[in-house]
Amino acid sequence: MEEILKKIEQEFEQNFADAQAQAGKLEELKIKFLGRKGQLNTVFKSLSGLSQQDRPVFGKRINELKEKIEKKLNGRLTALNERVSKASADRRPENFDITLPAIKKDTGSVHPLTQVIDQICGLFVEMGFMIVEGPEIETEYHNFEALNIPLEHPSREAFDTFYLENKYLLRSHTSPAQIRFMEEHKPPVQIVVPGKVYRPDATDASHSFMFHQIEGLLIDKGITFAHLRGVLSVFAKKLFGEKTKMRFRPSFFPFTEPSAEVDISCIICAGRGCSVCGQSGWLEILGSGLVHPKVLEACNVNSRKYSGFAFGLGVERVAMLKYGIDDIRLFFENDLRFIKQF
Ligand code: PHE
Repeated sequence: MEEILKKIEQEFEQNFADAQAQAGKLEELKIKFLGRKGQLNTVFKSLSGLSQQDRPVFGKRINELKEKIEKKLNGRLTALNERVSKASADRRPENFDITLPAIKKDTGSVHPLTQVIDQICGLFVEMGFMIVEGPEIETEYHNFEALNIPLEHPSREAFDTFYLENKYLLRSHTSPAQIRFMEEHKPPVQIVVPGKVYRPDATDASHSFMFHQIEGLLIDKGITFAHLRGVLSVFAKKLFGEKTKMRFRPSFFPFTEPSAEVDISCIICAGRGCSVCGQSGWLEILGSGLVHPKVLEACNVNSRKYSGFAFGLGVERVAMLKYGIDDIRLFFENDLRFIKQF
């Protein structure tokens, strides 16, 4: 009997040494040694074969061994459980160094151009305009013909663009969105259309082959140049400050008649003359005019009943003036040192 108990103890010590770190294995040992059909229970049953004197002696020895094994297994299991729950509570490995600096998560922010687009469109929404969008891939018809720019007309050159297959092209201004909207909606119309436009210009500090415009279009009965002036002066004052002055210069666009370019008093020198405004005191910010009757007719709008105004504004130009940026390329290089300033 003595022999048997020794053997069991030895076997247990051996198994325990192998299983130390694994809770699953330790549970298996519990069953193997302490279970109902475990080794200790089995020797217990064989006690009946012993003499009267030996029985209590070995009974006690078995119980002692049982307690010893129990204590070892349970002690180890508790220790393991504690470690696991502590590690998962902290969500870190055991050898985590809490003095290391944290990994900082970078948060993004809205691109400066998008901020300016949102702000400008917001001002027009306050005046009752609705924001809509048009496709960047356009047809010749929408980019040119419907806007009264016939194939042979020299003004096509001013709006030249990148051509795709099958007479598709990248729109060179947001004005085709006027056509698209009027094809689908009867007047009154009151929309602003922000978006990208493309021109095959060589890139330099003030030119980019892709830039952003915001188109405005208002069509209703009895709309005159006075309405255009009213809306744009509210806009200029809200965007650049109450003291901002505005002037209209006669100009030409095939899709408006009369046409005008709009300047604001220089926001850098307040009109006194500086290098940004070329000493003139004025900054050009947009093109505008009363919608040409031919454009209305192309969209089946009766030009004797309805009239309206349209304007097109360059977003990069406004953003550059607003933030004092002197190179348009900065907007598109994605240099975080630049982007993070906004
Ligand atoms: N589409 C013109 C441009 O890109 C701007 C414009 C829009 C002018 C609407 C008049 C009316 O230059």
